[in-house]
Amino acid sequence: MLRTEAVVDLAAIRGNVATLKAATAAEVMAVVKADGYGHGLLESARAALAGGATWLGTAMIDESIALRDAGITAPTLAWLWTPDETEAVRRAVDTGVDLSVSSQWQLDGVRAAAADLDLVPRIHLKIDTGLSRNGADVGNWPDLLAATAKAQAGGEVEVVGVWSHFAYADEPGHPMIAQQIAAFRDALADAARVGIEPQLRHLANSAATLTLPEAHFDLVRPGIAVYGLSPVPQQGDFGLVPGMTLRAALASVKRVRAGSGVSYGHAYTTERETTLALVPLGYADGIPRNATNVGPVSINGHRFTISGRVCMDQVVVDVGDLPVDVGDHAVLFGPGLDGEPSAQDWADAVGTIHYEIVTRVGPRVTRTYVGAAG
Ligand SMILES: Cc1ncc(COP(=O)(O)O)c(C=O)c1O
Repeated sequence: MLRTEAVVDLAAIRGNVATLKAATAAEVMAVVKADGYGHGLLESARAALAGGATWLGTAMIDESIALRDAGITAPTLAWLWTPDETEAVRRAVDTGVDLSVSSQWQLDGVRAAAADLDLVPRIHLKIDTGLSRNGADVGNWPDLLAATAKAQAGGEVEVVGVWSHFAYADEPGHPMIAQQIAAFRDALADAARVGIEPQLRHLANSAATLTLPEAHFDLVRPGIAVYGLSPVPQQGDFGLVPGMTLRAALASVKRVRAGSGVSYGHAYTTERETTLALVPLGYADGIPRNATNVGPVSINGHRFTISGRVCMDQVVVDVGDLPVDVGDHAVLFGPGLDGEPSAQDWADAVGTIHYEIVTRVGPRVTRTYVGAAG
């Protein structure tokens, strides 16, 4: 095998989207931002479309344009952009990428780009219903609606969607969920009063897609579940299949004496004569440095824990007396079918979420694709 590999199972991604689609009557926008949560933008997008997604979602405009450059023509929404991205906005409008608009400067930016191109831009107005992140706040919503209604009447924009994002969907039953749905309904009613009645109202992420049918509206926007990781782990796996296995070939194997200090600062010391295996993955590849002495690893079917500090390029694993050889496989995480740790196990070990574990796998790790995308 290669030195390091993130093996991405496209059949799993396709199947996960089919599972999500079966959970809703709404359209499915597969969120493929951040390089498809580390799984590969284009490959993930194609597998998601094969699984029944009819939309793709990205944070950055560049990510949506990369989809277009690769010939992917599915409806696509980009939602996070800054005032100087005029060229990106222009390219988005030109290639039919829908843009999220939360404020007047964004409305102006889209109109200017479209006027130049003699096109009508497709926009989704975003209301902040309680996340306090992106989106127009309730105080600015009437002004944004008025300006948008005017632009729409003048044929300067097409309002395709009105949308928002949850703060607590991964905690089913949290009172904030109902508050946000109510605020979203109020925002839609405000929009309707000024003649903005979009075909797509959307609010649900993965957790809401799988646990909150009343929040599905016309389209759902799952991300993490597309990649097979449970958005509400305390409620099980929802039949999702993890799409990524992170593995490496052992670069060195050596027998050392009892009392050998291991890796920088000797944060680990061998208790007896033992075998140390060297895994060529480090924090430059996305292995959290605080996985020192706690990150789980499977080698030749046996579970171990990283021994000593995580370095930039490598980690050491004390495998005791297990017979191992250079080139043998170390599996850091995968679907768990062969007893290997999961991304959730990693998240639990280092105090983060599985989103971060898969998304931060770095560019030195080769993505190898298995399973038919379509
Ligand atoms: C606006 C928006 N919608 C949908 C998603 C998908 O969320 P999840 O991965 O929890 O399904 C994200 C991801 O953070 C997002 O930022």
